[in-house]
Amino acid sequence: MKHLFPALILLLGLSLQAAAEANISIATDHIQLVLKVKDNGRLYQTYLGERLSAQTDIGLLSQPYGRLSSTGIKGFEAYPVMGTEDYYEPAFELRHTDGHPTSILKYKGHTQEAGHTAITLQDDLYPITVVLHYEVFPREDIIRQWSEITHGEKGRVSIVRYASSMLYFEAPQYFLTEFSGDWAEEMRMSSQQLQYGKKIVDSRLGTRANMFASPFFEVGIGSPVSEDHGTVLMGTLAWTGNFRFTFEVDHDGALRVVSGINPDASTYILKKDDTFRTPDFIFTLSTEGTGLGSRRFQRWALAHRLYKGKDDRLTLLNNWENTYFDFDEKKLTDLFGEAKDLGVDLFLLDDGWFGNKYPRKDDHAGLGDWQVTRSKLPGGIPYLVKAANERGVDFGIWIEPEMVNPKSELAEQHPDWILKWDGREDYYFRNQLVLDLANPKVQDFVFGIVDSLMQENPRIKFMKWDCNSPITNIFSHYEKTEQGNLYVDYVRGLYSVLQRVQERYPDLYLMMCSGGGGRSDYEGLRYFTEFWCSDNTDPVERIFIQWGYSHFMPAKAMCAHVTNWNNRASVKFRVDVAFTGKLGFDIGLKGLSANDMAYCRQAIAEYNRLKPVIFSPELYRLVSPYDGEHCVLERVSEDRSQALVFAYDMHPRYGEQQLPVRLKGLNPDARYRVNEICLMPGQKSRLACSGRTFTGDYLMKVGVTLTSSGELVSHIVELKAEP
Ligand code: DGJ
Repeated sequence: MKHLFPALILLLGLSLQAAAEANISIATDHIQLVLKVKDNGRLYQTYLGERLSAQTDIGLLSQPYGRLSSTGIKGFEAYPVMGTEDYYEPAFELRHTDGHPTSILKYKGHTQEAGHTAITLQDDLYPITVVLHYEVFPREDIIRQWSEITHGEKGRVSIVRYASSMLYFEAPQYFLTEFSGDWAEEMRMSSQQLQYGKKIVDSRLGTRANMFASPFFEVGIGSPVSEDHGTVLMGTLAWTGNFRFTFEVDHDGALRVVSGINPDASTYILKKDDTFRTPDFIFTLSTEGTGLGSRRFQRWALAHRLYKGKDDRLTLLNNWENTYFDFDEKKLTDLFGEAKDLGVDLFLLDDGWFGNKYPRKDDHAGLGDWQVTRSKLPGGIPYLVKAANERGVDFGIWIEPEMVNPKSELAEQHPDWILKWDGREDYYFRNQLVLDLANPKVQDFVFGIVDSLMQENPRIKFMKWDCNSPITNIFSHYEKTEQGNLYVDYVRGLYSVLQRVQERYPDLYLMMCSGGGGRSDYEGLRYFTEFWCSDNTDPVERIFIQWGYSHFMPAKAMCAHVTNWNNRASVKFRVDVAFTGKLGFDIGLKGLSANDMAYCRQAIAEYNRLKPVIFSPELYRLVSPYDGEHCVLERVSEDRSQALVFAYDMHPRYGEQQLPVRLKGLNPDARYRVNEICLMPGQKSRLACSGRTFTGDYLMKVGVTLTSSGELVSHIVELKAEP
């Protein structure tokens, strides 16, 4: 035994020696990330790009690039820590119990198994361990990355920054596309060239985290982002809370992309031996523009992430914009009949059904009191579910379980469950405050809202989970002296509730909603089957909003409803825009003409028939609304035997040239029968291509005319390969 110990040390030394030369390759079918342990024992990125053809070439990769070495920077460190020789934005920063502000993380070992790589880094001086995780989805060309941080120090260690990912690029120029906006203006795309220094895209709203900026970005590496050409990094943080992306161009022209939870006001006290797991950063690197990148994201989401990604979706009639808070049993049961007559699957009862001491007559009172308003709905929810089912539609219901109106019994009974500063004036957003989901008792309460509804009404099929306020007045009675943990613990509390809901009610369809599209992220979508893109349902605006989301999100996740916003647009135009997402209606049907009603019925039947194509991840964005006055989208079935083309004319200019649109993604050798579908009763197609047959080759090389000089005109065209 006495002699065994030095031998072990020798063995360990040898394996570390071997590790010091190790290349760690993380590759999908088309992307490759290579990390290398250098002789200082630290881990560096040596390559991120198209997958190398000869894997032996990995041995040729070297570091540092460019002039980095002259500064003392030793390369692109995979997880750089604040306070080391790299002067740029770090991935990680902490305070040890003795107040020391840094760590040097050295490679200790790694495992690679079934597409999952885990690399352990440790500090030589302090018991700090960081494990970098990478999971590859080879066929979808997606990489998912996260880190886990633990420490064994006795006392308070705080982690100040804790990125999920740090990636480096070297190119002559970089162009960022971001997706920003506000309520009713979600996913506005804008681009800029990145210059020396930092550009930050972040959120600090806590709950309704992506009201101003969405957690998605695209960076053109070497050239501006474009649909079909050029190298583009497309990334997203799977986190329903504050996020931050930092794009930093250094003195040497290298781009550093740091992605993670926003560290602002979130210095996290990490207990000894607890593991802090960062959210997933999910990315692809496409060498054929964003079109290919989007298809990769959509394929991945349907196969691996979106809840019920492979299942069907329910069309619905919602009563929000039709009745707002003004309804009773009679009105609702009439609407169930209308839903059936329209041909949708489900009726969704929105806000305004609860509260007795403070009935929810408008948005000033009642939030938090999840008992049905007896004076308004004497038969309760069971009566409504039964009545809906008897009329042949399923029943869904709206909740906003994370929130409370100060005018509510909940606020009176549990003031300590509410996030708010004591002794200061409260600031309300939509007359409400946020419950403290870091508190397990509040988590139980929130779970209990869903649970009691479901226990009482097991036939509820669908819930719309709303969230209308960011975190204002931030202070948690539960976190006490650890207020820096709150933003993170809130989101974790939310996930723990959603996990319980999913485990107990796996069949329930859930819509993530946040005063429009204030929440749309890939961690939330582990639990939600879909999300509400925006309260703005003006079809022209929706063309832009849905165009933006389509860069990352599959159609079946994107709720698109037909409403009365912009009734200058025909009902057909409004339906045709909603047709490309998860179709629903939120409109008084009695106000529709017989022709419009007939159109809607026919469109729903066509939608049901064509769902496999509409929900296919194979999206081709052919004409961008950002480039002019038209938008054309194409969805191709996965076997390429069928396709749908959606063409919209918004506000064409006088004398504008109408060029043929070249289709994409078809089988060049197949012959496709082209037919305009979803025509108004009695309407004949005016498209010259309708009713004719073309080869895929012709359609892709020559194209067909799909746009016109008409205002607010839409066409849906079906292509079927002939046997
Ligand atoms: C905001 C949502 O976006 C709307 O669809 C609606 O559900 C209201 N909240 C209800 O208060």
